[in-house]
Amino acid sequence: MTVRLSRIQLALFFILLCPVNIIGLWWAVGSPLVMDPNSICRKAKRLAGKQAELCQTQPEIVSEVAKGARLGVRECQYQFRYRRWNCTSHNKYFGKILQQDIRETAFVYAITAAGVTHAVTQACSMGDLLQCGCEATRNRAPPRPPSSSSSSSSSSSSGEGVKWEWGGCGDDVEFGYEKSKQFMDAKRRRGKSDIRTLVDLHNNEAGRLAVKLYMRTECKCHGLSGSCTLRTCWKKMPHFREVGDRLLERFNGASKVMGGNDGKTLIPVGQNIKPPDKQDLIYSDESPDFCLANRKTGSLGTRGRICNSTAMDISGCDLLCCERGYREETVVFEENCLCRFHWCCVVQCKKCLVQKELSLCH
Ligand SMILES: *[C@@H]1O[C@H](CO)[C@@H](O)[C@H](O)[C@H]1NC(C)=O
Ligand SMILES: *[C@@H]1O[C@H](CO)[C@@H](O)[C@H](O)[C@H]1NC(C)=O
Repeated sequence: MTVRLSRIQLALFFILLCPVNIIGLWWAVGSPLVMDPNSICRKAKRLAGKQAELCQTQPEIVSEVAKGARLGVRECQYQFRYRRWNCTSHNKYFGKILQQDIRETAFVYAITAAGVTHAVTQACSMGDLLQCGCEATRNRAPPRPPSSSSSSSSSSSSGEGVKWEWGGCGDDVEFGYEKSKQFMDAKRRRGKSDIRTLVDLHNNEAGRLAVKLYMRTECKCHGLSGSCTLRTCWKKMPHFREVGDRLLERFNGASKVMGGNDGKTLIPVGQNIKPPDKQDLIYSDESPDFCLANRKTGSLGTRGRICNSTAMDISGCDLLCCERGYREETVVFEENCLCRFHWCCVVQCKKCLVQKELSLCH
């Protein structure tokens, strides 16, 4: 109990330090901790503002928001697993990243806003929330066949006699999108639109759009004996891995911006650079190289990281270890092996000791 309390206090301490107080990230930062939304909301009461209000009026949504933020951070850790900065959610250092305005900050904001959109929408489809459910399709134009006609019913070729209808349970992404906006864009400092806030809000939106603009259509055939006289179709969100991949591409092509004179606009830096669109990630400061540990920049350094001595890309030892070199180490671990399938349905494995050569950065 005492441990738990002090952890919550730690989270609170963090939230007070955080310049743009995004409630989702507060939990994300404590990602190994699964906190109960009620106690979070009790604590949040002390904090004035929009978020405390949301916390009290929509506690069920709050817990989905927290799940979404964690989903986002986990995806960030996957996407950055071979990079110098690997999105480690170590409290102090992660907090520092969030306070800057570098590419990595942009990615974290985008992926968490996307995670919240995704998790809330998913909860709606699963029937976990009273406020929402499957997408209402009553007033929508009938679906058109997906362009890729990779249907199983190859004989009944494109169209004639096949009726298309909306049905099933479509994902109500609009709801998740709005909730993500409400929770993630809530600002503590009223009205102050400094450049950093503008940048953060832009990247939040880019993250949400990486979900909302890439909905896919799924369909199912109905008819006698394999015929397909009626197709029902519904909209599904992209898989979250796909969202992460897409945002990583945006990270690689992120645009540098600076504030205009009016303090309300962002202008691209550099000549002949096309202005970033809504889906692009933006930043205003150059990233540190993340080679050495540095509290100020939130860099943990790459000492001790596992690198790949044969890869020539960012996961290769040269780049990952910042030319400091590396050492080989043999590690022994247990693995499942000699697995056999027993009818029906058990798989039995033996434990084997496996040796592996690892390269670790100096
Ligand atoms: C990420 O980097 C930190 C510090 O460099 C390291 O301790 C941690 O193990 C890394 N995480 C992964 C998943 O590689
Ligand atoms: C190391 O890099 C090589 C070449 O890119 C690749 O084939 C191999 O799978 C990598 N090994 C690991 C453990 O990632």
